[in-house]
Amino acid sequence: MTRVLVTGAAGFIGSHLCESLLRLGCEVRGLDAFTAFYDPQRKRANLSRLLEEPRFELLHADLLTTRLDDMLDGVDLVAHLAGEPGVSTSWGASFGRYLDRNVLATQRLLEAVSAAGSQRFVYASSSSVYGVGTASSRGGGEPRPASPYGVSKLAAETLVGAYAHSYGVPGVSLRYFSVYGPRQRPDMAAHRFIESLLENRPLKVFGDGGQVRDFTYVDDVVDATVRALFADLPPGTVLDVASGRPTTIRTLIGELGDLVGTTDTDLEEYDERPGDVPRTEGNIALTRKCLGWSPTTDLRAGLMQQVAWHKRSRHLGGQDETDHATLLTASGGER
Ligand SMILES: NC(=O)c1ccc[n+]([C@@H]2O[C@H](COP(=O)([O-])OP(=O)(O)OC[C@H]3O[C@@H](n4cnc5c(N)ncnc54)[C@H](O)[C@@H]3O)[C@@H](O)[C@H]2O)c1
Repeated sequence: MTRVLVTGAAGFIGSHLCESLLRLGCEVRGLDAFTAFYDPQRKRANLSRLLEEPRFELLHADLLTTRLDDMLDGVDLVAHLAGEPGVSTSWGASFGRYLDRNVLATQRLLEAVSAAGSQRFVYASSSSVYGVGTASSRGGGEPRPASPYGVSKLAAETLVGAYAHSYGVPGVSLRYFSVYGPRQRPDMAAHRFIESLLENRPLKVFGDGGQVRDFTYVDDVVDATVRALFADLPPGTVLDVASGRPTTIRTLIGELGDLVGTTDTDLEEYDERPGDVPRTEGNIALTRKCLGWSPTTDLRAGLMQQVAWHKRSRHLGGQDETDHATLLTASGGER
């Protein structure tokens, strides 16, 4: 049975990834430090179903301090999603936290993976590495980060490339674009907008709402990540994981208003935040080719799932929530 270590397992994307790997028949070791970037109670709730599953093991540990050779014992594949997210919060004194949790933690893990000889290391990078640069159909693109967060993700991604080149670590970086869906982090746009709409509060918008984002549904991101774990890719490969359908923030708000059933949506406009960019747009041609992957959830269908999750979690007082009837049934066999 394939054993996978997932770091950041209690987070938004990590918890979905663990569930998907269990459905495929893997054994999953989930590691998380339950950092205070947002309420750790939410992270506990993300794990509630996983903890009932015998093939899932939770390690409450910090990548910066824990003995990583123990964590990797018996592990075949590593998905590294742990990190400090957030563009606007990465300026000033908090940059130290970004360096620690995104750069140093990744370097520690790469050292350990190199020694352990794992078969694959997938790193959750970000569209923020592009900043004011551009994606490219040849992959990699031209990164020019516009925030300290983007700089830290690019540094980590570059380390993956360095360990691939010099030590043959089979590392792949996936640049995720604005992920949304059930369990989305509370600082993210769709989450904030849905909560405001459900409470009839005005929606806080930074800038004029004309910014374009390549919103990508969490199940599509997880699918790409699983494929990258099992695919035979050259070490150091970098791929965009995006929907390929860039959308304005105003369109997002329109769709959400419609789904929540609000006829009049009040917007409160604030100045754009430092580090925000006018447009993100992934280039998924190479990702399709390398992984045989395509995004399958359109924005409306994905937002419908997210709105339903917000309503259910409110009803349950913040407990989990995700409506996956056969959540942990190993149906697809191992890949
Ligand atoms: N959500 C997005 O739209 C998006 C977009 C691009 C990239 N990413 C990247 O994907 C990854 C997951 O993002 P998410 O939205 O699920 O974030 P999240 O904050 O929900 O999950 C990250 C998890 O990592 C854990 N963590 C942080 N530092 C740690 C450490 N030193 N040791 C152990 N655990 C630690 C946190 O406790 C958290 O549970 C992150 O690396 C993020 O940068 C996310």
